[in-house]
Amino acid sequence: MKKLKVIIITGASVVLMMSCFPKASKVIRALPVESKEQIKAQYTAAQLEEGHTIFTNSCGKCHKLKEPGLKTPEQWNKTVKRMIPRAKLNDDQGKLVRAYLIAHSKDS
Ligand code: HEC
Repeated sequence: MKKLKVIIITGASVVLMMSCFPKASKVIRALPVESKEQIKAQYTAAQLEEGHTIFTNSCGKCHKLKEPGLKTPEQWNKTVKRMIPRAKLNDDQGKLVRAYLIAHSKDS
């Protein structure tokens, strides 16, 4: 009986954690690791500015805003894909935030 209880509790917490931290959409997950230059060639200054606004409005709700310069493009690519669903951003907003962060990331 004890074993069953453990299984049920473990299963329930896994489900709970997954619903709190949903996975990013397929579109977001499929975005490749891009360099600063590649990002700047693909997004206009206005789009990067929009990404900045979304970042400022949506990424400081649970923790302090993280400085873009703290991470390399590779590190941002990984982290921001985890954070996009947490911030409840749609694919377009997610892409802009990711582009903004990579455009201002640390030189690797
Ligand atoms: C719903 C709450 C929530 C929102 C909104 C959120 N985060 Fe987070 N973030 C967390 C939690 C919880 C952690 C610590 C645990 C972890 O790393 O998963 C974290 C950790 C981080 C870290 C440090 C961990 C690492 O891998 O370096 C960075 C950087 C980060 N968030 C960036 C962002 C960005 C960018 C956004 C906006 C797109 C964002 N966060 C929006 C909850 C949130």
